[in-house]
Amino acid sequence: VSVIEHTFVVSQVNMTHLCKETPVTVVNGQLPGPMINVTEGDLVVVHVINKSPSNITIHWHGVRQWLNCWADGVPMITQYPILPNHNFTYRLNVTGQEGTLWWHAHVPGLRATLHGAFIIRPRHGASSYPFPKPDKEVPIIIGDWWTMDLTLLEKHFKKEIVDDLPVAATINGKIGDLHNCSGLVEDGYVLDVEPGKTYLLRIINAVLFSEYYLKIAGHKFTVVAADANYIKPYTTDVIAVAPGETVDALVVANASPGRYYMVALPNQAPLPDPQIPVFATRGMVQYKHDHDHGEEEEEGAPSSNVPLLPEMPDQHDTMTSFYFRSNLTSLPERRRSQLPAQADESLFITLGLGSFCPRGRSCSGIYWRNHSVAAATMNNVSFHLPTDMAVPLLDVQYCHCNSTSSGVELYTLPDKPPRAFNYTDPVLAQWDTRKSLLLERTRRATVVRRFRYGAVVDMVFQSTSLLQSDANPMHLHGHDMFVLAQGHGNYDAAKDVARYNLVDPPMRNTVMVPRVGWVAIRFVADNPGVWFMHCHYEFHLMMGMAAVFIVEDGRTLDSVLPPPPVNHPKCYHLNCLMEN
Ligand code: C2O
Repeated sequence: VSVIEHTFVVSQVNMTHLCKETPVTVVNGQLPGPMINVTEGDLVVVHVINKSPSNITIHWHGVRQWLNCWADGVPMITQYPILPNHNFTYRLNVTGQEGTLWWHAHVPGLRATLHGAFIIRPRHGASSYPFPKPDKEVPIIIGDWWTMDLTLLEKHFKKEIVDDLPVAATINGKIGDLHNCSGLVEDGYVLDVEPGKTYLLRIINAVLFSEYYLKIAGHKFTVVAADANYIKPYTTDVIAVAPGETVDALVVANASPGRYYMVALPNQAPLPDPQIPVFATRGMVQYKHDHDHGEEEEEGAPSSNVPLLPEMPDQHDTMTSFYFRSNLTSLPERRRSQLPAQADESLFITLGLGSFCPRGRSCSGIYWRNHSVAAATMNNVSFHLPTDMAVPLLDVQYCHCNSTSSGVELYTLPDKPPRAFNYTDPVLAQWDTRKSLLLERTRRATVVRRFRYGAVVDMVFQSTSLLQSDANPMHLHGHDMFVLAQGHGNYDAAKDVARYNLVDPPMRNTVMVPRVGWVAIRFVADNPGVWFMHCHYEFHLMMGMAAVFIVEDGRTLDSVLPPPPVNHPKCYHLNCLMEN
């Protein structure tokens, strides 16, 4: 076993794009942050030194963290956040997984600038890939650029200052395409290719809240993996990737030598906000000249290579995303686990909007209309993250703290919404969030759901028009999910179960719930611990579209999990141990 060690110094620096200097929180001064590049089986040790003014945690998105949720990096769920001028060391084993994952901060807003690729190479080398060995591997991180201080995002959002929006998309941190104040176009990302060679693009969507379409003019992709799970090779000219998802795709440089734009375009639902600026980022795929080893064209030479632009899907085209995902199937012989034939329990989860009354207020009638707070919900419950004054949930479970002294009251995620309605009724989409009260009031709580170790769980995520027609990338920590089926409109078990793919469903850590549609997944709760499950759209997460899954094996967590890492903050343990 090799030990791969990194030091992440988190600090706030100023970066200038589009003529505006903006404070950004980054790792080691870089955006995107450093790439973690390991071989399956390695032990990864990351020392995080927090020199920024914000509380930080780092989450290793998609890394399975077998029996290791101590290192999962979710504030107040698996650890106390790393305070300014404090350090924390994450230790993770990457076993049984290979492919493209990523890491990101798990604090509101800062994921936009605190992220990087996490690449796990096969133990037996690139020749063990279930696809032709690429000549070169390239991470492609789609990001967004905000000209605001993102540490304020949540505060603004809670005050309903909602005009904070990104101003540009980026590929590997480069803007491209947009003009700065002196009229010059900012540099875009350039991928230099050699004719005939094969490139493995490891595509990561690290933006806060848009699915993206990626295309390269004149070239096709062959998708070979998604979320670090192999996919039966699927050839397409467009890739759809939602926040939290990764896609690995081969590109062969087989066009006539020249320059070709690589465009990443956000896909936006028609509702709710036509004011969201439309932007795409243009990178470039550039062929090396065989005669001059990459030097610029001779002066005066005719510009023979005006770059080609790909024809992009419409900005509001959600069908391209739907079809892209319908075409993903797994390579069963390379899958890490077998699909169980039956589920032990089933949940039907509506994703919606609601509103709750702030603590200590009584909201009724007109007062409710003016003072209640909009919330994103699952089965009409909105997640409340325990405050910094409480004990992280994992510690609560591990140390048997009682809820009074831990400051956390838990509420169980119900199996289904409190009442059935026409989830995708277009009329609902016209309502404002307060009107959703006509359906039912929202409960705000620290929502958990306990699963017996080994239980096979089916979940259907049903998007609702209450959400104003957003799609939702739902992410589960510590587990991958088999994606059995997706559909438009209201899920109907009587006919939709028959459509489940029980042969070669893809496995993902993030599943996209189509706009006004549903997705059905199955997962095996085989990783004891405390795991976050949430929408990977930052605003939905901030508004409470989240729950915590607790996987236990009948005994208590302290008899299953190894003890907390040495530098896990201990004061809170002591607080709760005193009561025992
Ligand atoms: Cu990528 Cu809980 O997140």
